[in-house]
Amino acid sequence: MSKMTTRNDVLSMPSLESVDKRHDTTPVAADSGLVSDVVRTFSVGDLMTLVARNVFKVNHCYMLHHNLKKLPLTPPRKIGGGELRKMTCNDIEHLHQKYSTLGLEDKQELFTCLRFFKNGFTDGYVLEVDGNIAYIQWVISSSENDVIRASYRRKLLPLRDNEKMIDNAYTFPAYRGLGFMPHVVWQLLNRCRDQGCRRVITYARKDNVNSLNVLCGMGFKITKLVSEYKLLGYGWRSF
Ligand SMILES: CC(C)(COP(=O)(O)OP(=O)(O)OC[C@H]1O[C@@H](n2cnc3c(N)ncnc32)[C@H](O)[C@@H]1OP(=O)(O)O)[C@@H](O)C(=O)NCCC(=O)NCCS
Repeated sequence: MSKMTTRNDVLSMPSLESVDKRHDTTPVAADSGLVSDVVRTFSVGDLMTLVARNVFKVNHCYMLHHNLKKLPLTPPRKIGGGELRKMTCNDIEHLHQKYSTLGLEDKQELFTCLRFFKNGFTDGYVLEVDGNIAYIQWVISSSENDVIRASYRRKLLPLRDNEKMIDNAYTFPAYRGLGFMPHVVWQLLNRCRDQGCRRVITYARKDNVNSLNVLCGMGFKITKLVSEYKLLGYGWRSF
């Protein structure tokens, strides 16, 4: 998405398909609108806490692979929630309004998810409960390697043909423990397989026990331990 694109431009786009077309012709600018997004999302107190936490930090995450030949035939059951559908620009606006209901950790998670959209990824999915978005997640394809190179060069490895990535799973706190993550992950893996993809990769923080349990339960295998560094808020991974 170009640097000249304003948030109102983005929100007035009718669907992610139109963003996709735009993305075909417009170079993706790294960190487009990052500062204004940060200022709009986090309070001064939040920012001071984040700066203090991220002066220098080392974490570890696992890289996991799923061989789609081994995907179970049916999805795991979830409790409630509608059908999985593609994220639209209206959803992005709806999600922006949710920040004020979240604590700092969750704000950070949601912020990272929405930056995927801002930076040019287009294949986002949502699951709703009674008209409220309860779960979101992204699928990234090798055709989006230009976005990875432009905005996530130090965080994500480019994808090979026949390989996709699922990332940034987020369940709003009120809907956790209802099986949304395993259900949606299965749905997305199944779509990837139907599209001819053979392998799906994902990343999960080493201390994210809930997420790792779900991913391994779905047939993902840990293939690599990756170090994550943060210096003055700037983050990168060492592969
Ligand atoms: C990780 C996450 C996506 C799991 O989503 P989910 O839809 O709650 O997934 P599930 O319903 O399968 O719950 C996963 C496990 O978390 C447990 N859990 C964690 N927090 C819970 C809560 N607040 N209420 C109920 N269960 C909770 C569940 O018991 C379940 O364990 P079980 O299968 O042994 O019962 C969600 O906790 C989340 O959004 N966390 C913050 C963002 C994040 O970590 N994303 C993952 C990046 S890889």
